[in-house]
Amino acid sequence: MTEQRLLVKREGDFHYPIYFEKDFSGLAQAVKDEGLAGRRFCIVSDTNVAPIYADKVEESLKEISAEVFSFVFEAGERNKNLDTVQELYRILIEEGMDRKGILVALGGGVVGDLTGFCAATYLRGIDFIQVPTTLLAQVDSSVGGKTGVDFQQYKNMVGAFHQPRLVYMNMSTVETLPPKEFTCGMGEILKTGLICDGEFFRFVTGNADEIKKLDLSMLSKMIRRCCEIKAGVVERDPKEQGERALLNLGHTVGHAVEKLKDFRLLHGQCVGIGLVAAAYLSLTRGLLTQEEYEEIRKGCALYELPLVVEGLKEQDVLAATKKDKKMDQGRIKFILMDGIGKSFIDNTVSDEELLAAVREILA
Ligand SMILES: NC(=O)c1ccc[n+]([C@@H]2O[C@H](COP(=O)([O-])OP(=O)(O)OC[C@H]3O[C@@H](n4cnc5c(N)ncnc54)[C@H](O)[C@@H]3O)[C@@H](O)[C@H]2O)c1
Ligand SMILES: [Zn+2]
Repeated sequence: MTEQRLLVKREGDFHYPIYFEKDFSGLAQAVKDEGLAGRRFCIVSDTNVAPIYADKVEESLKEISAEVFSFVFEAGERNKNLDTVQELYRILIEEGMDRKGILVALGGGVVGDLTGFCAATYLRGIDFIQVPTTLLAQVDSSVGGKTGVDFQQYKNMVGAFHQPRLVYMNMSTVETLPPKEFTCGMGEILKTGLICDGEFFRFVTGNADEIKKLDLSMLSKMIRRCCEIKAGVVERDPKEQGERALLNLGHTVGHAVEKLKDFRLLHGQCVGIGLVAAAYLSLTRGLLTQEEYEEIRKGCALYELPLVVEGLKEQDVLAATKKDKKMDQGRIKFILMDGIGKSFIDNTVSDEELLAAVREILA
């Protein structure tokens, strides 16, 4: 069954489609419709996703291509690095993959970011397709064209902008996702509503029961709206010179917490904590009412996102936040809220204000 597609601008007049589907049955046709039938495909996946879904994807691609092979690497952020990239380059060279070859990223954001980066650089750039299987990848990392890998302890330090030829989501893949990973996706979804669509934020918090039961038509509405918002922001500001920075709402403090907890808390959980910090700062500036602040906290709690973090010192969080790469000439580029569903970039946040917000999220 084909849901309505969403068309996203690639460059100039070129657009690529995002499909919101309930299975993989439409994948071959979707690829064919982009004029990609008959090309060689390399499915890139990880050791958790490949055993569940790679066969189905391979079967589907074989309907339109005689040459489909796979590369599977060990799951986990710690493998989103240049060693794995090199292994993939080697396989592609050994298989004689040429400029017409296509990489298929089947997995979460780790697979998507790494595959996209390989596609951006192998033979100076080949096509790739995103088949995101985590909620986070469906609503966030598969849309927008940012690709890359970690370098030593530095996250996403090496990368490129490279847009996919198409994104094919089988939303039912979230059924096999560990619940904690689902929660992480919800962190980014709540963030997206808070940035620019209060009605959407309230849709997500108001339908939590159905969403948590993974009701597919509800998920479909939610995921689609989230992609629409992100794609719109990215279209207007592809290289993050302005508006795209809004997508970092909750990420300034969130990244600091993520780093200080040594990545033992998942990214989306840290974003939840970061959202609370940003909301508190907005509250103290009189931009949010107490009720709105509570509404945001409740929204995060509904999806089991932590509101506080244990075992950290306020000065460490402050220092780590200031060290984050998203600085604007020495000042922290902070995203604040002006009511639910409206956000803006601010670089006037003082250490005192930030400390007060940090205290709010420390257990
Ligand atoms: N490019 C971007 O714009 C962007 C945006 C946000 C995040 N990211 C990146 O995305 C990454 C995080 O993505 P993620 O949260 O999807 O992590 P992930 O890819 O590590 O997936 C999380 C876990 O779920 C497993 N998994 C994936 N799909 C599954 C399924 N359907 N069933 C069972 N298990 C499944 C994975 O093997 C992994 O263990 C980070 O590296 C982050 O930097 C990139
Ligand atoms: Zn994020």
